[in-house]
Amino acid sequence: MDLHIRLEGRGDLAARIYRQILDAILDGLLRPGERLPPTRELAARLDVSRNTVAAAYDRLTAEGFLEGRAGAGTFVRGEPLRRRRRKRAAGGVRPRSRWESLAAVPNDRSEFTFDFRLGMPDATLFPLETWRRLISRELRPASLRSAGYGEPAGHPALRVAIARSAGLSRGIRAEPDDVIVTQGAQQAFDLIGRVLIEPGDCVAVEEPGYPPARILFESLGARVVGIPVDDEGLDVSAIPKNARLVYVTPSHQFPLGTPMSLARRTDLLAWAERNGEAVIVEDDYDSEFRFSDRPLEPLQGLDRTGRVIYVGSFSKTLLPLLRVGFMVAPASLQRALRTAKQLSDWHGEPTTQAALARFIDEGLLARHIRKATREYAARHEKILTALNNDFSEWLTPVHSAAGLHLCARLKPGRDLDLQQRLANARQADVAVESLAAYCTSTPAQQGVVIGYGAIPIDRVEEGLRRLHTHLCATQQAV
Ligand SMILES: Cc1ncc(COP(=O)(O)O)c(C=O)c1O
Repeated sequence: MDLHIRLEGRGDLAARIYRQILDAILDGLLRPGERLPPTRELAARLDVSRNTVAAAYDRLTAEGFLEGRAGAGTFVRGEPLRRRRRKRAAGGVRPRSRWESLAAVPNDRSEFTFDFRLGMPDATLFPLETWRRLISRELRPASLRSAGYGEPAGHPALRVAIARSAGLSRGIRAEPDDVIVTQGAQQAFDLIGRVLIEPGDCVAVEEPGYPPARILFESLGARVVGIPVDDEGLDVSAIPKNARLVYVTPSHQFPLGTPMSLARRTDLLAWAERNGEAVIVEDDYDSEFRFSDRPLEPLQGLDRTGRVIYVGSFSKTLLPLLRVGFMVAPASLQRALRTAKQLSDWHGEPTTQAALARFIDEGLLARHIRKATREYAARHEKILTALNNDFSEWLTPVHSAAGLHLCARLKPGRDLDLQQRLANARQADVAVESLAAYCTSTPAQQGVVIGYGAIPIDRVEEGLRRLHTHLCATQQAV
């Protein structure tokens, strides 16, 4: 790699070369075993005498940072040196105060044999060969001929495909022009927030709820209020009158799993109508996987006054790393949302979007969802049966008929340190999340949220057996 050395100003040139190479080694930029340029070459590049460079190399060699190998050159010494932490300059630049205290969204990348965490579909179900074929097709010279900047609303073919498939499978009323493709649902929330929220505005979210959405609205300066969720979904009567935006997951409440009842949906839409400026964000992130119960009409399909923005994601149906989501927004917000999208990243990634359009058009997405639904239904059933049979003294499952996770509440009177017990289960290679992690109000609701996207069905039984050992053991045994 080219070594960039600055020699402006006055002073001892060899000392400055020495210092900058030393810094690069200590900062880990030059790694053990890496070869330095020959003294002659570096001297010519820096326009200094060869002796000057040699003096710097000699000093670093004497101090043990470099070693010369006969006939091969000069190398950073093989033993890794402890990396030095860069000193933070006192009084360095700081982010805005709200960013200093903003909680990061947890991103735990540790691996577990019995992994019941949320957020991951089964990557082994992903149709990799087909996807590779579709991506290769988009990378042919003919496809790249018009490779300038694209439309901020996303690849036209994908918008047509989404409008059609969301209409057919979810009852969403959308023309292609209503669809804006985003980098995952998260970018849709960001664009919506930027276009609609002034600092200090009230945003209502579900409690318990989805942390990345809540934190995002906080980052925009909103006053975020958690609204309780009961067996029918969001308690509409608890939404503050001045809420500008209400974020909900009606198909499969996150994390409880309950669908919002039709009565509540109607109440929520009526509430929004009474509050002329209010917008509802309907996050439908994983209800493509449905095991029983008929899906209820989406809020977007029931809305007659243009107050609902429907947000979908391919993170569960395909993979989160593709970063493709979309929103179906009312015409009154289209121009602002497209401008926000353009100012954010212009238009996302067209190769993936074009490949996905074909994947949907050729019926491959629908086929993949059918196949994955059979697999997830079996896991859902197995976990539910175990919860009802083996955990029934401790946990009550929350009714859920779709998605990639289910929730079970701790029974009243079961006074145990759930967090500690889940930590113990992790020691036994079983990762299960706590319902409390999705609560912001106190006392936090107690229970577990069990994901089945990432765990193969043949590991479910043993995973739950181990969970049982740690969760339901008597106090002394833990
Ligand atoms: C409630 C909820 N909304 C949306 C998403 C999808 O987010 P994205 O499309 O940004 O990956 C998830 C994924 O875990 C989710 O749980």
